[in-house]
Amino acid sequence: MKMMLCGKGGCGKSTVTSLLAKEYARQGKRVLVIDCDESNYGLHQQLGLELPKDFTDFVGGKQRIMMLAANGPMNMPPLFDGPMTFDDIPKEYLSENGNIMLMAPGKIHVANEGCACAFNIVMFQFLQFLQLGENDVVIMDMEAGIEHFGRGTGNSCDAVLMVVDPSYESLKLSEKISELCEQGGHPLYYVLNKVTEKNLPAMEAKIAHPEKIACRLPMQEELLDAGLSGDTLEGVYPEIRVLTETLKGI
Ligand SMILES: Nc1ncnc2c1ncn2[C@@H]1O[C@H](COP(=O)(O)OP(=O)(O)OP(=O)(O)O)[C@@H](O)[C@H]1O
Ligand SMILES: [Mg+2]
Repeated sequence: MKMMLCGKGGCGKSTVTSLLAKEYARQGKRVLVIDCDESNYGLHQQLGLELPKDFTDFVGGKQRIMMLAANGPMNMPPLFDGPMTFDDIPKEYLSENGNIMLMAPGKIHVANEGCACAFNIVMFQFLQFLQLGENDVVIMDMEAGIEHFGRGTGNSCDAVLMVVDPSYESLKLSEKISELCEQGGHPLYYVLNKVTEKNLPAMEAKIAHPEKIACRLPMQEELLDAGLSGDTLEGVYPEIRVLTETLKGI
C-alpha cells in the first residue's frame, strides 16, 4: 500500500509518519518512508536514521529534470527504465534500520538553488514505476499545505491520511482536502492529532466528514518533549495500531 500524509504546517504529519512506520515495522512489513518535505529536517531523526542523499541525483539531478520538463512535467520522457521494486533503489540513496528504509527526493541545500519542482516530478514518476510486494508499505510525508495535490505528486497513492490538529485552519482544510481527494479518486482518512478530552468534541463537530476519522491520537507529553529535543520516537501507541487495522480494508 502507498499512503500519503498531508495537512497544515505543524499538525503532526512527520510524527504520525514515524509512528506508523515503526508500527508497520513491528508488524513485520517492509516500510519505505519518503521524506517529501524539501524544507524540514526532523523526520529522519524521529525515525532514528541518517538523512539520505537526494534521490533526485540518481536520475541526473535537479537541472536535468527541469530541462526534461521544459514542455510540462506530464509531457516529459520516463526517468526510469521500467518497473522498480524496493530492491532496485540504490543503497546510497537510502538510510535503513531493520525493516524501515528512508528516501528523500531532495532538500533545499543552498541559497538561490531554485524551487522544489524537480523533487515532486521525480516522486510523481517514481511512485508510478514502483511495484510493491504484498508485505511492502510506502509512507510519504508531504510538505505542509496542498500544493502537492495541485502537482499530482501522490497520484499513485492508495490512501491519503490527513492529519488534523485542534486549530481552525486545520478543520477548514479538512473540507478542501476532502474535495481534492474526491477529484483525485483517493480514499481519505482523517487522523485527529493532539486530542484532549476538551478539544475532541469540537474537532469532531467541525471536521468536514466525521465518518472519515480513522484515528484519534492524544496530546502526549513525551511526543512534545521528543519534538523539542529531536529524539527518536520510541513509544508504542494503540491508536496507531488500530489505524493500521483500519487501513487493511483498502
Ligand atoms: N500527539 C502529539 N502530542 C504532543 N505533541 C505532538 C503530537 N503530535 C505532534 N506533536 C508535536 O507537534 C510538533 C509538530 O509535529 P510534526 O513536526 O510532526 O508536524 P508536521 O506536520 O510534520 O510539521 P511540518 O509541517 O513543519 O512538517 C512537534 O513538536 C511534535 O513533537
Ligand atoms: Mg513534517
